[in-house]
Amino acid sequence: MKPTTRPARPQFSSGPCAKRPGWSLAGLEKALLGRSHRSGPAKGKLQAVIEGSRKLLGIPDDYRLAIVPASDTGAVEMALWSLLGARGVDVLAWESFGQGWLSDIEGQLKLEDVRGLTANYGELPDLAEADFRRDVVFAWNGTTSGVRVPDAAWIPEEREGLAICDATSAVFAMEVPFEKLDVVTWSWQKVLGGEAAHGMLALSPRAVERLETFAPPRPLPKIFRMTKKGKLIEGLFQGATINTPSMLAVEDVLDALPWAEEIGGLPALIERSEANLACVNDWVARTAWVDFLAQEPATRSCTSICLQIVDPWFLDQSQEERASAAKKIGSLLDSEGVAFDINSYKEAPPGLRIWGGATVETADIQSLLPWLDWAFEKLKAA
Ligand SMILES: Cc1ncc(COP(=O)(O)O)c(C=O)c1O
Repeated sequence: MKPTTRPARPQFSSGPCAKRPGWSLAGLEKALLGRSHRSGPAKGKLQAVIEGSRKLLGIPDDYRLAIVPASDTGAVEMALWSLLGARGVDVLAWESFGQGWLSDIEGQLKLEDVRGLTANYGELPDLAEADFRRDVVFAWNGTTSGVRVPDAAWIPEEREGLAICDATSAVFAMEVPFEKLDVVTWSWQKVLGGEAAHGMLALSPRAVERLETFAPPRPLPKIFRMTKKGKLIEGLFQGATINTPSMLAVEDVLDALPWAEEIGGLPALIERSEANLACVNDWVARTAWVDFLAQEPATRSCTSICLQIVDPWFLDQSQEERASAAKKIGSLLDSEGVAFDINSYKEAPPGLRIWGGATVETADIQSLLPWLDWAFEKLKAA
């Protein structure tokens, strides 16, 4: 039977993600447009983003936090190009983004002492293999496979290398213990539902020490440079961005941060996202045609919830036919106005990916699930 209730908001994309509940363009009216980003009021807004993020995430006082160019990718690349090469590197890669960092470190930075600790979609590499005498690079949440690290127990308090974590689809929805990480990056368009534009980069005192004592043996474009004459550029961490930021995007994140505080801060954001995962989990448990891509329950992401189709009819088809069938579910629900952008990532096994970050209402996930059953049955019958 075709369901009758549609999700109030069909935005389930994994980035840019749904805006916060209650968001409207009116929230951007105070944006400081047409003013220099170096003016006092603009710098005040940039600083407010830094301080608001620090407070909400509970980032230690001695960590530096900057707004940087080119979104999360910019923040990660800045860290990799500025910091790596002082010692060997372990790169954990279990889906597309981790694989991308691994291939950049090997193929672009051309570092010699690199170990790739890899796993297939749905699995994690053996975290115990990561050697923290070396630098360790990993994504907290693999957005394209819906597999996250279960905790930080595998990261030692005392480590010689730096723990460099791409946490863009984890922060604001998962416990990310900054004290155990030396570099943490994210962008605004994920769990906060902000506008895509800039990246955030958090550095531990040890990461700063590395920046000030290690001169990478490679040219660094201006857009990546965090030191001048061997000293950290302090202004970068006080709102003096390297280049011109979008004050409209800044205003949008300044709209999202107070919302997050008002609903109860980080614990409430995490609770909202976990409730979304729990809702999908209940449905998967009673639905024969679908399963999580993440094998191990403790590794299932509460943000990028990735599902595979396990119905025998589907599994009997070729890879190409499966990919096309899974896409048809997405297009059918898109044309019904029920769900946008829920196809799995292009390089991931064919299936569905539903964003369950904190801006998504559990009621909307609840309304979506019968539509998935309907679309699958319709496809199979055809
Ligand atoms: C784990 C991870 N890393 C990096 C990125 C790239 O982020 P951005 O487009 O903000 O640079 C994404 C985007 O989905 C991601 O999920």
